Amino acid sequence: MNLKGRDFLTLKDFTKEEILYLVDLAAELKQKKKKGIPVDTLRGKNVALIFEKTSTRTRCAFEVAAHDLGMGTTYLDPEASQIGKKESIADTARVLSGMFDGIEYRGYGQEIVEELAENANVPVWNGLTNEYHPTQMLADVLTIKEHFGRIEGLKLVYMGDARYNTGNSLMIVCSKLGMNFVACAPKAYFPNPALVAQCEEYCEKSGGSIVLTEQVTAAVTGADIVYTDVWVSMGEPDDIWEERIRDLSPYKVTLDVMNQTKEDAIFMHCLPAFHDLKTKVGSEMGRRFNIRDMEVTDGVFKSSKSVVFAEAENRMHTIKAVMAATLGAL
Ligand code: CP
Ligand code: NVA
Repeated sequence: MNLKGRDFLTLKDFTKEEILYLVDLAAELKQKKKKGIPVDTLRGKNVALIFEKTSTRTRCAFEVAAHDLGMGTTYLDPEASQIGKKESIADTARVLSGMFDGIEYRGYGQEIVEELAENANVPVWNGLTNEYHPTQMLADVLTIKEHFGRIEGLKLVYMGDARYNTGNSLMIVCSKLGMNFVACAPKAYFPNPALVAQCEEYCEKSGGSIVLTEQVTAAVTGADIVYTDVWVSMGEPDDIWEERIRDLSPYKVTLDVMNQTKEDAIFMHCLPAFHDLKTKVGSEMGRRFNIRDMEVTDGVFKSSKSVVFAEAENRMHTIKAVMAATLGAL
């Protein structure tokens, strides 16, 4: 498998074999890290990390992974750089290509990361756009594989806003890998029909399936994995909270929901999560709408079924695999 020089913009661009290769490579790099065996074969290289939206996991994962691989990192905050205001994405891509060996981008429309990739002559990695979150998917698949020892045929139910980055990317990865994907949400929050059609084609090849439903019990019966994400994503307007809480509350992941799944089912979340009121936004919503949590209850989040922190750690190992493979460290 040779992924040297490839961009990592959406998993639509990758085959099942390539995705599984990256997940297996991440597992190998994880083992080595745990055993204290260094893999710093990218010494002397440097990567640029552009974050137009905030981040804890993705930024830390890129920085730690790059340092483990022997690379230097430069964090670029659009507020403190020329990006967007005084310099176009295309010019930024050309400038950064002259100094760096790879560029990570987190921001708004997918077309921005695509424009960056078109104009850069080094690999560009998507650290989240409105439409897709591909590095998150590799961490999720690694976590699922570690837990179940297999991927194909598992039923993953995504509850909440299924039109955004995490929901879209889960539908793509499940359909590429032969999993049974269910989006459980009000109709208005179903994924875009063109993307569903494209994923149905992937399913024909992989043996996976896609179901879109408003019915919680039908969705979660027989589920191996229940997955949710925040109800309002980064970059969305603050005045949307009230509508989202009203529309998506029936799709909250509760203990009652988890009790309808398979005995050994797990709970996943890309994080950050509103499972209590111990955040600025959470406490404000708690006061305004008289609620204690949002997309998941604290009970589920802290239960033995929850694998969210293993999933978060796997962001680093999988992002390391993406950089190692596309920069040709192996
Ligand atoms: N899951 C995820 O992308 O987290 P951050 O927003 O903290 O990077
Ligand atoms: N859908 C969320 C994912 C965060 C990792 C967002 O875009 O804010």
